[in-house]
Amino acid sequence: MAGLEHRRVLIGVSAGIAAYKTPDLVRRLREVGAEVRVVMTAGAMEFVKPLTFQAVSGQPVRTTLLDPDAEAGMGHIELARWAEAVLIAPASADLLARLAHGLADDLLTTLCLATDAPLMVAPAMNRLMWAHPATRANCGLLAERGVLIVGPDEGDQACGESGAGRMLEPLALVQRLGGLFAEPVLSGLRLLITAGPTREAVDPVRYISNRSSGKMGFAIASAARAAGADVTLVAGPVNLETPTGVDRVDVETAAEMHAAVMSRADTSDIFIACAAVADYRVASVPDQKIKKSAERLSLELERNPDILGDVASLTRAPFTVGFAAETENLEAHAEDKLQRKGLDMIIANLVGRPGTGFDADDNLLWVRWPTGSRSLGPAAKTVLASALVALIAERYHERFSGGDS
Ligand code: C5P
Repeated sequence: MAGLEHRRVLIGVSAGIAAYKTPDLVRRLREVGAEVRVVMTAGAMEFVKPLTFQAVSGQPVRTTLLDPDAEAGMGHIELARWAEAVLIAPASADLLARLAHGLADDLLTTLCLATDAPLMVAPAMNRLMWAHPATRANCGLLAERGVLIVGPDEGDQACGESGAGRMLEPLALVQRLGGLFAEPVLSGLRLLITAGPTREAVDPVRYISNRSSGKMGFAIASAARAAGADVTLVAGPVNLETPTGVDRVDVETAAEMHAAVMSRADTSDIFIACAAVADYRVASVPDQKIKKSAERLSLELERNPDILGDVASLTRAPFTVGFAAETENLEAHAEDKLQRKGLDMIIANLVGRPGTGFDADDNLLWVRWPTGSRSLGPAAKTVLASALVALIAERYHERFSGGDS
């Protein structure tokens, strides 16, 4: 899964409080089958002990360039050759500056000069340090040289401030690394995907919505991009970073999502309906806030358009994939939906259980298409996303190369 099985990944750790998340990153990488070695800077060891990384990676951790035992066999060159990808997480402002200027004053920076593997950095620092012209210029130089800069995210920071500078979460980093090794199975195809909830107004200040976080749809969009697709993501209101290279269209209501999708569906090769679209909207939304006066209040609801159904019944319908979130009888409901809506594939998950489904990082899926089925997971949504993209690509190519349908 995630294209990382048996891949040799070198993780560099520099000095930052986000280093407390890096052992989890190592653990997650090993879960998807990667071989991981860890190199720490002197500053990183102020935050996390090498022993922690040794335990989670199952390998000795290297911390110094001039280690007589390892260097007897040119250890740093061997490690540089061993790596198929290098990810520095967290990458501090100082580390980025040293990389930008080609310094080789410790093991990690030396390795970065001595490897021809792709180098990815996950910056983590105070928002003003990230915004500083010196850091901007260093990142500009690194990007020009082909270094992949992933993140940072926006949000609360350890220093008590809020802004851009948070390291991407471990699962997002696993997915970015997986993207480096992804086969371009969707190359040249246009993929349209919906994600997140919709919001239906009750009055000017209130709305009806649901617990969808958008994580699954965003992860699929990212994995599809890594697999070479030209991706448009129609997103309901969610608090997620747009995956690199993905076109994002923000919408709020089901009607807006419907319009955004229908205007693009017939020029898309694949459509994935991952959004948790509200089935109903308030029939008549008042101009003013509803007052708290009556003891009981009834809202009259009317049906929203079925985006998935409308796409599937187009004359030139793309390869159409739906989701089924069920609280019971998963397989029967999914099967029924596949046939009733005339889909090419349905991805079913049980919701309402703690730890999977809505608003969780992990999921367990059952995928059905007209001639077969497969279970995926339980696994992280980012990992499942890559597996789903591979499966969708397989089915798409089989269908359009005249195989079964
Ligand atoms: O019929 P049901 O709502 O359970 O189907 C779920 C699937 O349909 C999901 O793929 C969802 O994105 C899609 N859907 C849609 N438009 C709606 C309701 C659901 O595209 N109005």
